[in-house]
Amino acid sequence: ALSPVVLGVESSCDETGFGIVSEGKLLGQGLASSASKHAEFGGVVPEIAARAHLDAVVPTLQIALKDAGVEPKDITHVAATSGPGLATAVHVGLAAAKSIAWALDKPLYGVHHLAGHAAADTLEHGPLPEHSIILIVSGGHTSILEVRDLVRDPIVHLGDTLDDAAGEAFDKVSRLLGLGYPGGPAISKAALEGDREAFRFPRAMLRAGDHPYTFSFSGVKTAVARTVEQIERTGAAVPVADIAASFEEAVVDVLVTKAVKACQEKKLSTLVIVGGVAANRHLRAKAQEQCDKLGIELRVPPPSLCTDNGAMIAAVGDLLVRSGAEPSGLGIAADPSAVL
Ligand code: KG4
Ligand code: ZN
Repeated sequence: ALSPVVLGVESSCDETGFGIVSEGKLLGQGLASSASKHAEFGGVVPEIAARAHLDAVVPTLQIALKDAGVEPKDITHVAATSGPGLATAVHVGLAAAKSIAWALDKPLYGVHHLAGHAAADTLEHGPLPEHSIILIVSGGHTSILEVRDLVRDPIVHLGDTLDDAAGEAFDKVSRLLGLGYPGGPAISKAALEGDREAFRFPRAMLRAGDHPYTFSFSGVKTAVARTVEQIERTGAAVPVADIAASFEEAVVDVLVTKAVKACQEKKLSTLVIVGGVAANRHLRAKAQEQCDKLGIELRVPPPSLCTDNGAMIAAVGDLLVRSGAEPSGLGIAADPSAVL
């Protein structure tokens, strides 16, 4: 049979992404971001994101096709994020994907955004092992998953967050410190100049015996807010770099400790860390250090494949096609609160 050439479409938040994947290989992609348009609001404004997607869909698709050296007629399958995400944002990419699939008369697959994050790693490091632990850390989710075959087998949630996601905590703390949106890269940059031990912020649920894989990040955000208020009350300058560094240390400590613990307890020798927060340099370094110590293989996609993109959605589409999955059809609806 001919190799599938899968076009993936992502629009669940503030990134418009198109990627083209064939048999596990990324052929090319296009990416547009409306992040700068949300900066003054300190977070993504759904209506602004949706309008930006509408502006970006055609030019970004053209960039992806050119990057891949692929003509529209070469595309054999279309895959698009159907959820979870901002409803108005998901609708734009999904409608574009339906139009493309209809015009080309090719099958359409709805893709879960988080499966996309996990599959992103396969574009860099090849197929996932038969059984692994995946830590997903994004703006909307923080979960430790036990995964066998990403598209064939049920995914076991070992634990999720009770409140804020890790990326959300970065974004909220960044806003508190006046560092803007998106918060992750801003905090990470500020932290380079700071002392990670200057403040001891709470590590919630770190030793939660009954819930070893459950997260909670609203407490650390509140602790940062209280610290900033107290310092401001004294009239002293807020030590932004030290707070950023100590906050980053607290979050990374919890993420790495729990993910590594899951590998040890489940006796699995591969840890995969994905999602926007996986682009964080301190997280990558700390995870590598712990994994090296314990003989765990760590897989983390390159930073550009950690944050939202179309290639990761095409990667899931390609896995679905090759596993013989049924297409979703052109009637597929957006599922803004889809669970994995
Ligand atoms: O996966 P993603 O692009 O979108 C969602 O699915 O949510 O993740 C976005 C999140 C944002 O909260 C952003 O602040 C965070 O990932 N992020 C980072 C870094 N780059 C992006 N967090 C920490 N350090 C980074 N370098
Ligand atoms: Zn994402």
